[in-house]
Amino acid sequence: MSTAFLNGDYSVLETVKISPMDRGFLFGDGIYELISVHDGNLIGFNLHIDRMKENLSAVEINLDWTHDQWREICNKLIDKNGAGNLAVYLQVSRGVDTKRHHAYPEGITPTVFGFTSEITTSQENNQTMVMPMKISSAKDKRWRHCNIKSTALLGNIIHFQKGQSEGNDETLLFNADDEVTEASTSNVFVVKDGVVMTPLLDNQVLPGITRLMLIDMLRKDGSIPIEECVVTMSQARDADEIWLSSSTKEVVPVIALDGNTIASGKVGPLWEIAYRLFTEKKFDY
Ligand code: PDD
Repeated sequence: MSTAFLNGDYSVLETVKISPMDRGFLFGDGIYELISVHDGNLIGFNLHIDRMKENLSAVEINLDWTHDQWREICNKLIDKNGAGNLAVYLQVSRGVDTKRHHAYPEGITPTVFGFTSEITTSQENNQTMVMPMKISSAKDKRWRHCNIKSTALLGNIIHFQKGQSEGNDETLLFNADDEVTEASTSNVFVVKDGVVMTPLLDNQVLPGITRLMLIDMLRKDGSIPIEECVVTMSQARDADEIWLSSSTKEVVPVIALDGNTIASGKVGPLWEIAYRLFTEKKFDY
């Protein structure tokens, strides 16, 4: 049995009840974060809360909780749900209204929900435990505010499902100009001739915390050049390596795209360096 947080109370997850008039339920009108926890330590906590606060203000959900308040909730959930490798999910919706009306209502209180789940992928400090991925690709048909971590994820779900239906683990997305945006649940890195490239941040891409941390680690380490730039699908198809990043996956190698192997179809040497760096430095953020 797992413990969840709802509006100040902690109770058994399965017993938590939210009104069907909650705008999160009716409209997907909410913001979320997912923070991973390894051996009881939150990874990138301040960066995640910074992003959540920016997103809340971008959609005018007024909730002015401090980092310390959020940390206390996360730590209580970790205490109650056991150490190990967890993902803490935090969601703030605009709140419960009395009617279904698109305009932001005045004077309602945001609904704050949190729970944890076990991370099933390996987060051990052992690269042989990391399962390389095979991925599909699809034209990115999501909305034009992908930089906002909205709970309205149907567009991402449709794309993710395409990959699953094709027997793959993820779906790489590209825009009308054949430029890689991100994947349906992760950011993307493409390696060619010793250079790591990742799409620039704009409204087509979620500014992933894992992406941000990895770029910072690579820059500080200095042994592999890393560029934020336009990355085309033909560069992805012709890559030496592709990696995906997210809080739950950390940094995983991709060995096939749309049924074609990436380079030799084996995990690449630069990924091994990136993986080692990430494993060593992830608690520094
Ligand atoms: N997904 N891009 C998309 C579309 C994502 O959904 C995610 C994360 C990322 C990576 O962001 P971060 O490094 O901050 O986790 C990029 C989370 C894990 C999810 O929805 O479950």
